[in-house]
Amino acid sequence: MHSRNQFLLGLTVFLMTMSASSIAQERNVALLASSCAACHGTNGHSVGGIPSLAGASESYFVEQMTQFANGERKSTVMYQHVAGYTQEEIELMAAYFAKQ
Ligand code: HEC
Repeated sequence: MHSRNQFLLGLTVFLMTMSASSIAQERNVALLASSCAACHGTNGHSVGGIPSLAGASESYFVEQMTQFANGERKSTVMYQHVAGYTQEEIELMAAYFAKQ
């Protein structure tokens, strides 16, 4: 009985840790994405001449970011913006904007 309770306690702690870390990651992505809002609009919904990011497919997004980074796609500002992000952050943002 005792060990079963300990197992359940362990499981609960494990599940709480898991969901806390995914919430933290979601906040983190929202924070990353907010630095794009000045140009690409709130949550990627652009109102000006700059392309919207909202609803862009993940593969398209990652491809554009990669091409800005390696200079394959010429850009006025994006090559600078892409420089500060890791591949993982780019993939997280791709998933985030695809859902908007
Ligand atoms: C200072 C304004 C500015 C900021 C900030 C900015 N962008 Fe951009 N973005 C642009 C412009 C302008 C373009 C068009 C390409 C170019 O000239 O650089 C662009 C193009 C893009 C494209 C290609 C879109 C398409 O459909 O062709 C992606 C993807 C993108 N930006 C992602 C981001 C992400 C992610 C961030 C935040 C981390 C960000 N941008 C921040 C100005 C900005």
